[in-house]
Amino acid sequence: MSTNVEKIKELVDKREEARIGGGVKRIEAQHNKGKFTARERIQMLLDEDSFEEFDMFVTHRTFSFGLDKQQYYSDGVVTGRGTIDGRIVYVFSQDFTVFGGSLSETFALKICKILDQAMKVGAPVIGLNDSGGARIQEGVRSLAGYAEIFQRNILASGVIPQLSAIFGPCAGGAVYSPALTDFIMMTEDTSYMFVTGPKVVQSVTGEVISTEDLGGANVHSTKSGISHFLAENEEEGILLLRKLISYLPQNNLEEPPVIDCSDPTDRLEEQLNEIIPDSPNKPYNIKEVIRATVDYGEFLEVQRNYAKNIVVGFARYNGRPVGIVANQPMFLAGVLDIDASRKAARFVRFCDAFNIPIVTFVDVPGFLPGSAQEYGGIIIHGAKLLYAYGEATVPKVTITLRKSYGGAHDVMSCKQLRGDLNYAWPTAEIAVMGAKGAIEVLEGRKIAGIEDQEEKQKYIMEKEQEYVEKFANPYQAAKYGFIDDIIEPRNSRFRIIRALESLATKKVFNPAKKHDNIPL
Ligand code: HXC
Repeated sequence: MSTNVEKIKELVDKREEARIGGGVKRIEAQHNKGKFTARERIQMLLDEDSFEEFDMFVTHRTFSFGLDKQQYYSDGVVTGRGTIDGRIVYVFSQDFTVFGGSLSETFALKICKILDQAMKVGAPVIGLNDSGGARIQEGVRSLAGYAEIFQRNILASGVIPQLSAIFGPCAGGAVYSPALTDFIMMTEDTSYMFVTGPKVVQSVTGEVISTEDLGGANVHSTKSGISHFLAENEEEGILLLRKLISYLPQNNLEEPPVIDCSDPTDRLEEQLNEIIPDSPNKPYNIKEVIRATVDYGEFLEVQRNYAKNIVVGFARYNGRPVGIVANQPMFLAGVLDIDASRKAARFVRFCDAFNIPIVTFVDVPGFLPGSAQEYGGIIIHGAKLLYAYGEATVPKVTITLRKSYGGAHDVMSCKQLRGDLNYAWPTAEIAVMGAKGAIEVLEGRKIAGIEDQEEKQKYIMEKEQEYVEKFANPYQAAKYGFIDDIIEPRNSRFRIIRALESLATKKVFNPAKKHDNIPL
């Protein structure tokens, strides 16, 4: 065998060794848990044969605790670049078969290299997490490694999209890298995230709680809202990531990708003319309105199971990606509370950072009243959404379907928060408050003075009716130009598409500043 051939064989052998990570037994153990390996996940995520691996031959530099005898190529994380639907993405995938995917100094450097390269070329980063946290044998070097990653996540925020999938454990300070990224996806039963695990929780607070109940995918999708997407399994999770990427630009200097659309732009949706119930207290499903108007009825909902009184997600109009924000009358009558405000504010800011126009559907009775909300800081959290809409410079199209009352009217992308095109359906009620509340305030003394109950009820009803006729309609707002047009509900798709097309060249700049000071 010539020296060349020998050297090439050595390379092939080394590559083969690297590809089996921590060994066949540990790969089997991973599969037995219903999980894929780091490399299998990359394979599923990227276009076929598009993956270019970096740093395959990196090994750790720790020689105590017997680690000198345990060296694995790649050192527990597979990193590189590939494409999704032909568009470049950078990827790192933690390999649980090597020291439980725990993070060493060299492991961290590999992830940092990915983040640096992605920033240089302006491409998204996708992190697939499955790790026992800091590699215990490395001590503070591992902590420093995490901080190097955090710093890069922070600088990349708002420049390139950063997506995190949690496919296994993610604990301790390690949770903060995903938390600094734009979206987190978790898989049911196999992933969890927490700052301190059940054992520490028990020893410090006495609380006995399971891993699943403390930081499982369901908990983070419903209670904390940390997880933006919940997948039944890894395959579904990977498909979700691919779909999400399809709506996003490569970086903050690019526009989101527009695709061909064969769904007619002038499609009339007759059922929308009937969707608003006669009674103002009756709910309807706002997702029916969203699906009726967007291309092919396709809507990628974000935080589907958290703060259900507001719906956010991605869709397209005539092939153009948008972010949709919509009050949901089916839950808490679509009221704005702390969770809904935070959820929508974060989403609006993401869309604005990445040049994704925002379409807002309004049906909001107001902010949720009460001490629980006040003590929880609804003032600050509600202000986040107000702030997010007000600072956003992307095209903003707003459609008021029914209620738009009080402070919540202002918050939900009103004209004065630089709403570009604000439409209303004829069923819209844009006013300071609902008829009942208004009459209680305005006529309270008079009503209290009427002794006969029948007469009292009749008077209240008359006054409420008078108020509804005078104020609970879109014509007052339209009279002042706060609403640009009152449109027939069935025309909504067509009107939104035309609005977005007219705004495609919109340019608005905020004053120069070091950074803003959004109420946190
Ligand atoms: C080194 C680790 C490791 C770690 C796991 N392993 N975690 N090695 N450092 N942090 C190794 C194990 O020794 C084992 O090696 C292999 O990975 C698989 O681990 P198992 O325990 O057998 O797997 P499993 O039963 O599935 O349990 C997974 C686990 C558990 C729940 C993640 O391993 C665990 O609790 N690990 C410690 C978690 C932790 O406390 N990490 C530090 C958090 S603090 P072999 O050779 O047997 O295959 C932190 C600070 C970050 O991360 C701060 C950033 C700012």
